[in-house]
Amino acid sequence: MSITARSAPNIALIKYWGNRNDTYRLCAANSTSMTLNIPGVRVSVAHADTLVVHSLNKQMTEKDTLRFAETLRLIRGYLGSLGYDRALPASLHIEIDSEIPPSIGLASSSAVFSALPKAIAGLLDADLTDEQISVMARLGSGSAARSIFGGFSAIRNTGGNDIDSAVGWQIVDEHHWQLHDIIIVPSTQEKKVGSSEGHAFAQTSPHFAERIRAIKEYRQQECIDAIEQKDFEKLQHIAEEDCMDMHRCMETQQPPLHYLSSETLRIVGEVKQLREAEHIPVLYTMDAGPTVHLFCTNEARNRIVEFAHEQADCTIFKASIGPGTHLV
Ligand code: PMV
Repeated sequence: MSITARSAPNIALIKYWGNRNDTYRLCAANSTSMTLNIPGVRVSVAHADTLVVHSLNKQMTEKDTLRFAETLRLIRGYLGSLGYDRALPASLHIEIDSEIPPSIGLASSSAVFSALPKAIAGLLDADLTDEQISVMARLGSGSAARSIFGGFSAIRNTGGNDIDSAVGWQIVDEHHWQLHDIIIVPSTQEKKVGSSEGHAFAQTSPHFAERIRAIKEYRQQECIDAIEQKDFEKLQHIAEEDCMDMHRCMETQQPPLHYLSSETLRIVGEVKQLREAEHIPVLYTMDAGPTVHLFCTNEARNRIVEFAHEQADCTIFKASIGPGTHLV
């Protein structure tokens, strides 16, 4: 028997960067995001004697397979703590079918590692809540805990060092506020240092402690308020502040990580000009790569799509708010 789950990336408005526990990927601070409808990933799981991880779209490296093996080890431990001790089979055959170019800052790991535990829960026929599945997702990729949910979601840190001390939760579902994410990918070259490795050195940035304090004191709550109130201007202000703050941390940690390219900065500059000249509700945000995400309202969508297509040599995705991870 094989069970398949479909998921899509989520793009953070308050970014997760750095862990307080690297093994369990317990995030140093809370974070907030919007789950997209596309590009999608399907992950199928079936019982197997040995672990096989196969992707229809990319050559899996030994490092990739080790990440899955470690994630399954942690998931097995978590399921044990929930009383499903022998539930997970000795090993799994995992097949991934992804529409997402990997490692360009388009959150492919958030889609893959949210679909994986949803499919595992289906295979076990286990009565798990979405929060519990979000914990399993977080063990593979911290941000994946948010893609379990549709609409806008967040990660809440409950303190402590237990495996479930950081949990995903839904702020509002995908019907609350119809926003779009017009994605401009200036480069499809894979980044050299992935976010998993980057998190481990986040604390070496002299700006890290101040960043965590700002998220705890006001940013996370202001972002949630803006979403609940559908206040685009407030969302723009707080999301752009947090995005640039995360990149300042990345660029000043040891060794430094420069994910934003000159093309990224040029596009951001032009978006600012467009917004000022035409009073368009649009905000920019970038993750661990040069890709620019332009969040906008329904009224601004056509103009932003037009702007995206004016960018030479870029790949464009036109995403909207999405429904979260589900079995197919
Ligand atoms: O889940 P990870 O380990 O790929 O980390 C994601 C980090 C960022 O994309 C940069 C921010 C975020 O909150 O998604």
